[in-house]
Amino acid sequence: MSNYHIKHLEEYYKVYRKSVREPEVFWEEIAEEHFVWRKRWDKVLSWDFSKPEVKWYEGAQLNITENCIDRHLRTNGNKTAILFEPNNPEEAAQHITYNRLYERVNQLANVLKSQGIQKGDRVCVYLPMIPELAISVLACARIGAIHSVVFAGFSATALSTRINDSDCKLVITSDGSYRGKKTIDLKSIVDEALEDSPGVTNVLVVKRINSDIVLKEGRDLWLQPLLDEASIECEPEIMEAEDPLFILYTSGSTGKPKGMVHTTAGYMVYTAYTFKNVFNYRANDVYWCTADIGWITGHSYIVYGPLANGATTVMFEGVPSYPDYGRFWEIIEKHKITQFYTAPTAIRALAKEKLEFVDKHDLSSLKVLGSVGEPINEEAWHWYNDNVGKKKSPIVDTWWQTETGGIMVTPLPYVTPTIPTYATLPFPGIQPALMDENGEEITGNQVDGRLCIKFPWPSIARTIWGNHQRYKETYFSAYENKYFTGDGALRDAVGYYRITGRVDDVIIVSGHNLGTAPIEDAINEHPAVAESAIVGFPHDIKGNALYGYVILKETGESRDQTNVRKEINQIITEHIGPIAKLDKIQFVPGLPKTRSGKIMRRILRKIAGNETSNLGDTSTLLNPEVVEEIIKNAII
Ligand code: PRX
Repeated sequence: MSNYHIKHLEEYYKVYRKSVREPEVFWEEIAEEHFVWRKRWDKVLSWDFSKPEVKWYEGAQLNITENCIDRHLRTNGNKTAILFEPNNPEEAAQHITYNRLYERVNQLANVLKSQGIQKGDRVCVYLPMIPELAISVLACARIGAIHSVVFAGFSATALSTRINDSDCKLVITSDGSYRGKKTIDLKSIVDEALEDSPGVTNVLVVKRINSDIVLKEGRDLWLQPLLDEASIECEPEIMEAEDPLFILYTSGSTGKPKGMVHTTAGYMVYTAYTFKNVFNYRANDVYWCTADIGWITGHSYIVYGPLANGATTVMFEGVPSYPDYGRFWEIIEKHKITQFYTAPTAIRALAKEKLEFVDKHDLSSLKVLGSVGEPINEEAWHWYNDNVGKKKSPIVDTWWQTETGGIMVTPLPYVTPTIPTYATLPFPGIQPALMDENGEEITGNQVDGRLCIKFPWPSIARTIWGNHQRYKETYFSAYENKYFTGDGALRDAVGYYRITGRVDDVIIVSGHNLGTAPIEDAINEHPAVAESAIVGFPHDIKGNALYGYVILKETGESRDQTNVRKEINQIITEHIGPIAKLDKIQFVPGLPKTRSGKIMRRILRKIAGNETSNLGDTSTLLNPEVVEEIIKNAII
């Protein structure tokens, strides 16, 4: 079918226009020709953003694992599906073929069934980047269980909150994980989490680091012996198009994390279609996305999108700095990677190291470079383009979100001319709108505003688990009949989009979404803390880092303040994880507030960013003297 693989710009515009004029015909053709269905849909799309309700391919039946595994067996059974590169470069890489993946997924699916897991049950997966992580995700999908993967860098408290929110019955974890020189004891984090999660009745433990761990009787079991006994055949559960496939938590600006619910058919169609076009995927490619499967990027573009295309997808267990800063480039050379998809924060960190690390490796296999998670600054873009892509691999700066399920605004490689820092054009089917502060759409080009999407696409999250009202309020209430992204964007003279960053209290640190409220709540638990406010400030490598303004109950510089700083970061690590630690903590006598008692974060952001010459309108400030004081002692 012609519009499955877009080859030049004219064709992009043609396909795009069709996707807007006849969205149902457009998405029907793609669904029809590229997937296997147990039953065809009755209706391509029904939607109402005021409820909000979106349904794609209603009436269709399928199992996503048949699309990601079974259908490739006849022609590509011996092709590598998952290429696992371990943390330690001395340990052999593993090539898991589609045949073997089929067997391993089915075995685990059968084990889950034997543990009482049924269609619709929630299973929490808390694993490092080892093949069992992808296999667990697929095994859940095989039997219709809803997976909730929690990034293995999250703390026990964060894990427990997520397990409880979606009532997970079973957890799959490992005895530990390797990350560079470190080993991390994951199992004891799970043990601690489960003290507050009584609903979990079973824990399956993968042996990865051979550590001495204690299995709790009646609850914990080593996974391998169960797999050894399990059949390699497991009939796929037949799922309705709109049955939930997974829950994935993302931070909001307030409140507890939001369990975004993605459903089966639309998610599959959209991730597969975007994968093929955004990465210009061809049959013999070896594709590598460096994200963790604990994030949406890993779900959509390590597991589902690539496997639905029968691709070889790389899973890397380690970190870019181990055993040295050449590790990424060494892996690209070793496995002849064709597409490399990473985050600006990683690029910036590696650009700081000696160029020799890059130059000593043969990177000539590369044909597409990708970027995701935060805006890529011009300097990082050029470094990536010059030194990794050698100016011949196009960079796709892909803008999207946990909530969108798949890539939304992006260049298509060898199709869309790129400009550094521009995510460029909407993917077919995506109808962006820029809105002004009065809720009006800003038409025309060379304008900026708040980025909304005005028509549904197949992989939009359908709800927040257990809280549809919050879903409505967060995404569909700011602007009538539109999905609000929380980002600002500008549209240039030719209609290219540049994402300018969050317009709410979410801060993107090293590509990770962090809400200010949960961090402040954690800090405020410290007995010496009266109140706190967190803002982001520009950081060379992380993009943004966190600056905390903290009011202590007893004021005045005391010898304990260093300790309090450490303890605050400890509390944050316990409640959320090390990714949310503060880079700077300033003890302040008060916080700038409006007369109605709202913290004026705008002023705090300016101070943290060392832009105090222009604080903007301060006329509504209740306590201007506090601002003077904060500026005087700011940590710059
Ligand atoms: O602010 C945008 C930023 O990351 C947010 C979504 O974060 P998350 O749900 O964790 O998903 C990240 C991976 C898809 C967005 O609202 N963001 C993501 N990609 C880009 C970006 N900002 C600018 N340019 C991007 N390419």
